[in-house]
Amino acid sequence: MDASFWNNRYATPHFVYGETPNAFVAEMASQISAGPVLCLAEGEGRNAVHLATLGHRVMAVDQSEAGLAKARQLAVARGVEIETVLADLENFTIEPGAWSGIIATFAHLPPPLRRRIHAQVVTGLRPGGVFILEAYTPAQLAFDTGGPKNPELLMTLAGLRDELAGLELLAGREIEREIIEGDGHTGRGAVVQILARRHE
Ligand SMILES: C[S@@+](CC[C@H](N)C(=O)[O-])C[C@H]1O[C@@H](n2cnc3c(N)ncnc32)[C@H](O)[C@@H]1O
Repeated sequence: MDASFWNNRYATPHFVYGETPNAFVAEMASQISAGPVLCLAEGEGRNAVHLATLGHRVMAVDQSEAGLAKARQLAVARGVEIETVLADLENFTIEPGAWSGIIATFAHLPPPLRRRIHAQVVTGLRPGGVFILEAYTPAQLAFDTGGPKNPELLMTLAGLRDELAGLELLAGREIEREIIEGDGHTGRGAVVQILARRHE
């Protein structure tokens, strides 16, 4: 699923994943201390804009120009500013020690890239900074409610524990929940949720 796939998906006036933040991000946002936040594979900007309304300086990275254009549109509508960076994560380096928060919702990357990015998440957080992730697990293949069909792109709690070694896991769970996040994700879904913190 390359940039043109996502540009086509986002080529509609409505927000495919909704205009409100991911429910887990909204629940955990208060865990992010004051400071800059990096939203990875951020698409149409729902998390980035929400975090900007809470007072964070936010950078949203995605490979889809159409997605980021909608993110900027949403920011204007909410009266906040966000920085958008058009980049394939293959070519993006997370600045070490820079971020109070890093967010990744439904960022289903090929495993070698995912491992590399997660290693950079560990070093990219400031001391006390937190990583918030939600993603589909292999159990999602039994549901027809969104997410990739390639099992390699799905994530497990055990796999994420390994990839994020070095962070303290404050919350880590595999659950089923009702996901109402735009028509891109609607219905019962099987997800893994992570809140992890870099030691002070
Ligand atoms: C399912 S959408 C989720 C968007 C957003 N995180 C959300 O939850 O609303 C997946 C996003 O990942 C982005 N993406 C996938 N692979 C990427 C890559 N290699 N580099 C940058 N963005 C990528 C896509 O462009 C798309 O916007």
